[in-house]
Amino acid sequence: MTNKYIFLLLGGLLSAICAFQKGIPPVGETGGLDAKVDSLLALMTLDEKIGQMTLFTSDWDVTGPTLREGYKDDIRAGKTGAIFNAHTAAYNHELQRIAVEETRLGIPLLFGYDVIHGYKTIFPVSLGEAASWDMEAIEKSARVAAEEATAAGLHWTFAPMVDIARDPRWGRISEGAGEDVFYGKKVAAARVKGFQGGDLSAANTLLACAKHYAAYGAVQAGRDYHTVDISERVLRETYLPPFKAAVDAGVGSFMTSFNELNGVPATGNKHLLTDILRNEWHFKGFVVTDYTSINEMVPHGIAADEKAAGELALKAGVDMDMQGAVFYNFLKKSIAEGKVSVEQVDVAVRRILKIKYELGLFDDPYRYGDPELEKKVILSAAHLEAARDVARKSFVLLKNQDRTLPLSKGLKTVAVIGPLADSKKDLLGSWHAAGNAEDCVTLLAGLREKLGAASTVLFAEGCKTLGRSKDGFAEAVNAAKRADAVILAVGETRGLSGEAASRSMIGLPGVQLDLVKELVAICRQADKPLAVVLMNGRPLAIPWLAENAPAILETWFAGTQGGHAIADVLFGDYNPSGKLPATFPRNVGQVPIYYCMKNTGRPMDPKNKYTSKYLDVPNSPQFPFGFGLSYTSFDYSPVLVDKTVFGRNDKLKVSVRVTNSGSYDGEEVVQLYVRDLVGSVTRPVRELKGFEKIFLKKGETREVEFTLRAEDLAFYTRDMSFKAEAGDFEIFVGGNSDAENSAKVELR
Ligand code: GLC
Repeated sequence: MTNKYIFLLLGGLLSAICAFQKGIPPVGETGGLDAKVDSLLALMTLDEKIGQMTLFTSDWDVTGPTLREGYKDDIRAGKTGAIFNAHTAAYNHELQRIAVEETRLGIPLLFGYDVIHGYKTIFPVSLGEAASWDMEAIEKSARVAAEEATAAGLHWTFAPMVDIARDPRWGRISEGAGEDVFYGKKVAAARVKGFQGGDLSAANTLLACAKHYAAYGAVQAGRDYHTVDISERVLRETYLPPFKAAVDAGVGSFMTSFNELNGVPATGNKHLLTDILRNEWHFKGFVVTDYTSINEMVPHGIAADEKAAGELALKAGVDMDMQGAVFYNFLKKSIAEGKVSVEQVDVAVRRILKIKYELGLFDDPYRYGDPELEKKVILSAAHLEAARDVARKSFVLLKNQDRTLPLSKGLKTVAVIGPLADSKKDLLGSWHAAGNAEDCVTLLAGLREKLGAASTVLFAEGCKTLGRSKDGFAEAVNAAKRADAVILAVGETRGLSGEAASRSMIGLPGVQLDLVKELVAICRQADKPLAVVLMNGRPLAIPWLAENAPAILETWFAGTQGGHAIADVLFGDYNPSGKLPATFPRNVGQVPIYYCMKNTGRPMDPKNKYTSKYLDVPNSPQFPFGFGLSYTSFDYSPVLVDKTVFGRNDKLKVSVRVTNSGSYDGEEVVQLYVRDLVGSVTRPVRELKGFEKIFLKKGETREVEFTLRAEDLAFYTRDMSFKAEAGDFEIFVGGNSDAENSAKVELR
């Protein structure tokens, strides 16, 4: 028997003995889960209960503004039941042993970490993954992350982030699935399924956490942590549905958001945490706050002090306090004063203990984490290949004038230029967990491997991503002049998006655009191909690039295998198939701009001054939601409907025939949008109601069929009842949200 099994057997035996000695009812004892939890609860002191409601960070990673000393002592004293930012099997087993063997009841710890787009094998940032429109790929990414994270002793990830985001100034747009509700629901479900699998007690499945609840993406001015003030209709129609999709997918935990919502911070918002989450959605898991967000209700001005903030949070429906130590410091006093009750504490502790039972931690606290498995699965060839595949699928071809791409592998000399061409760390993006920059394959490395000895690959950084120095321009110009083709990698550093990384201007930072202009001019003059590779965590405003660069490939932050994946696409080993999950504005002045806006009473009319428009920029975006080119082309037949009038119990069949009319095999995301022409409240000019990613060989034609029912057209009507209203609808089907190919139908 390998030492792995001895390790596990001893761990399990030891924990069973410890548990028996400490009176914890072993799993499998008579009575269901509730009985086990209640019998354990009956043994717990108030301090031990409050300990279970307290989450502290280890000092292995810093993901927020405060750190505590002595978290091991807190574990030993039973003052914390969960630790985040600690990982590796060895370290987590050391901490778990303290909890299991050195505390009075030996209740196992819960280990959490921000495994957002990979644990050590890093996948594209979430907005990039969302650009794949491939639910299998997105689920696969979460599954690989769970395999690696659980091998490293983790039980819980603070993901998926399911915040709808329509403001690219907000750095956290990079962490989610973009601007669309229908699509955001699909991605939320795929990520929860990928992390949690079908059995939370399995040693390779990870408890997921839907965050940040709620409407964090609607912060005013795109400024992180700022105020959110939206109508109940916008809350329910736009920001809540992906959270509900996560609940329906079985997510086991929720995280509150930092922002206030309509005057009440989410962390103290009973309407969100109890009325909706518990009473309407019947969510059974537990709710953890975001990092010290209970404490932050004091500066929010909704609580006079932290003790009052803790009372507000508990009464609203918070179960666990992340890092704030507010429950830890004040809850006993609040109970003694009668401000909150032990029964309210018991409700929270029950929810947490249930999840620990469901994870199998009472059965075997050492179930997760195995040094042998770590070596076997982390950065495995299969995981690296998966990361490369998902990355390829996440790229969006924004422009390809005169078929600049794909480049020929027969090129003698290729110049790879730009501050992101050989940057390992930026490929990781934000929230890269245990990902190491050293493991990343840069664009330069990927190209060199792709082209091999037959070609010469020149490299010149040209400039830094940030900063004003143009000292490197001459070398870059020289490399471009010597080459047969130029690949220019520009964009953002990974630190310019993610948390606390809002930008008021969303163009290329530093002097990168000046570098691009010089090189585009040189290549245009020499009639040599130039492709811009963008690496960024948000939609950028790139009007000059869009106008003048021959080819633009959006690669987001592509992860550990980024360089290989980009090289695969640039040289035609993979035909790009990604579509934008968020609108690219022409400039930041257009923000917020997204495809499903309202028509207004004065829709833009170029022949009429008095209509809704700007004097200095069109209303249309640079690149719309759902947009992405391919090396081939796809032709759509007119939209066919099997009936033009349908009733509440009918299924409406909508179909198109799609033909690959170009010279490459390729994938197309066929998208279906619906416009409700008249409602009891105004309705968006269109809304995504279906999509299907299909592969067509060159010349191949396929029929794609969608089914619409009345419930698919439901919305919050004038009296806030959620239903579809009779009337006329226009259905659009095409390759992006600007599709004109349409048919009209009537719902009776
Ligand atoms: C951070 C983030 C949240 C993350 C948590 C733990 O402040 O807002 O997304 O999961 O703290 O690191």
